[in-house]
Amino acid sequence: MKKHKLLTLTIIFLSLSVEITIAQNARIKIDIERQIGEVSPLIYGNFVEHLGRCVYGGIYDPDSPLADERGFRKDVLDAVRDLHVSITRYPGGNFVSNYHWLDGVGPKEERVPRMELAWHRLETNEFGTNEFMQFAREVNTEPYFTVNMGTGTIEEAQHWVEYCNIKEGPYFAELRKKHGFAEPYNIKYWSLGNEMDGFWQMGHLNVKDYSKKAREAAKLMRLTDPNIKLVAAGSSNYRPGADPDNWNSTVLHELRDVVDYIALHIYVGNPDDNYYNFMSAPLVLDQRTQIVKGMIAREMQHAQRGDRDPVYIAWDEYNVWYRARRGASARGERALEEKYNLEDALVVAGFLNAFIRNADIVKMANMAQLVNVIAPIFTNENDLFKQTIYYPLQLFSKNVKGTSLDVFVDCDTYDTEEFNIGLGEVSTVQKNVPYLDVSATYSDGEVMICVVNRNKDKAIATDIISQKGEFSGNMKVFEVNGPNIKSMNDFEKEEVKTVEKDDIKVRGNKITYSFPPHSFTLLKCEVE
Ligand code: AHR
Repeated sequence: MKKHKLLTLTIIFLSLSVEITIAQNARIKIDIERQIGEVSPLIYGNFVEHLGRCVYGGIYDPDSPLADERGFRKDVLDAVRDLHVSITRYPGGNFVSNYHWLDGVGPKEERVPRMELAWHRLETNEFGTNEFMQFAREVNTEPYFTVNMGTGTIEEAQHWVEYCNIKEGPYFAELRKKHGFAEPYNIKYWSLGNEMDGFWQMGHLNVKDYSKKAREAAKLMRLTDPNIKLVAAGSSNYRPGADPDNWNSTVLHELRDVVDYIALHIYVGNPDDNYYNFMSAPLVLDQRTQIVKGMIAREMQHAQRGDRDPVYIAWDEYNVWYRARRGASARGERALEEKYNLEDALVVAGFLNAFIRNADIVKMANMAQLVNVIAPIFTNENDLFKQTIYYPLQLFSKNVKGTSLDVFVDCDTYDTEEFNIGLGEVSTVQKNVPYLDVSATYSDGEVMICVVNRNKDKAIATDIISQKGEFSGNMKVFEVNGPNIKSMNDFEKEEVKTVEKDDIKVRGNKITYSFPPHSFTLLKCEVE
């Protein structure tokens, strides 16, 4: 990539000298034979935690006139369906480290309320395993459960698998039937705790103790149902003094024969209000992915996995989160009610591009979270609105599938200052950040090209070149943009959304397209 490849024309008119700066054409080259890997549909996942108004007042609100007979908000169900959420993680998050699943099953009038220690709420337990499974079926999402590896025991984890996945016979399978659910749920994805490297976790463990407990829990859970896929808790702690690489490499070493995924989490923000620094945040996800990919490769050389796939990465929490992260905004009934703007949506699009570019190793990702809590959907008693971050995620989940392509990009770049990508995390400097952030996929004769133009002020005219096959037919163009980088949505106001532009007739191996400033564009086009 060339740096500062600006063509400066000096026009001298009489004695007056005027400088005009023109961004030279960028280039994107794609070759449908230059492939990275299959895009897993599970990268379009989400997350429902018992936190703030995600469950209560979000997806579940039995007193609302908008609720159906089971208490689910019908407008929320519709918005979730439109998002095409492939997999949903439940019930936490930090919540799960002090959650005992038995509290949330059985007759509602017998369920006991508990002090919720992670987010400082009263947990009524009105909503639990069976309610979540009804919700999951309603919105056609694969369930993904996290067991309590903090205050919970390995036996409790085993009992939950038995309750969910065993048809009949043992006590917990019969208990589910007694609760009115005759058929097992066959929940395939289970994670062995959440962020267990975090000192904030109830029952936090050091890496040796975590690995040992997780391995034994995995043993009991797999003996109960051999078909389940297991996710190890990777590191989420990048604060100064923490050692995330040591945690990840040790967990991978200790659990390399046992687990199917390692979970990583990332939250980023723009507390210093520096747009260009913030826009580089997805590079950090790319870099952390590469580091863990290397660790996996090393361990897979010696792993005994039979014919199972290698361990993959699940980015099972990612998002922008920095405003509602401290003090009163981070606890209680209205915790984590972050409101998003256009620059946040562009960073989310950048994360999604990074998942596609790493499709060979990233096989699951879950935006955190689904409703109200750092979420794409935001409700009040009467209504909901779709936050800015809803739109890039929806465009990807509806369109971007098939095989990820290894794209060549040549465009102007910039360097960031030293900055903090999140709150309290290590600072970074990013060099050569391309103004165009690109990924592409190929499926059934169509290419999908996803482009964030990070440039705040300039459109970037770009030659898109197909190196194998010719573009043909009508190219579809979808754009997420808004009046400026701080534009936001709210009830009754939608400044940032997806706009479908006029189709463009294409033929041949080159398309020239101009990506508008601060935009995310999805181009969809046949290649023959
Ligand atoms: O998603 C909010 C919180 O962020 C989750 O509960 C926790 O896992 C992470 O620290």
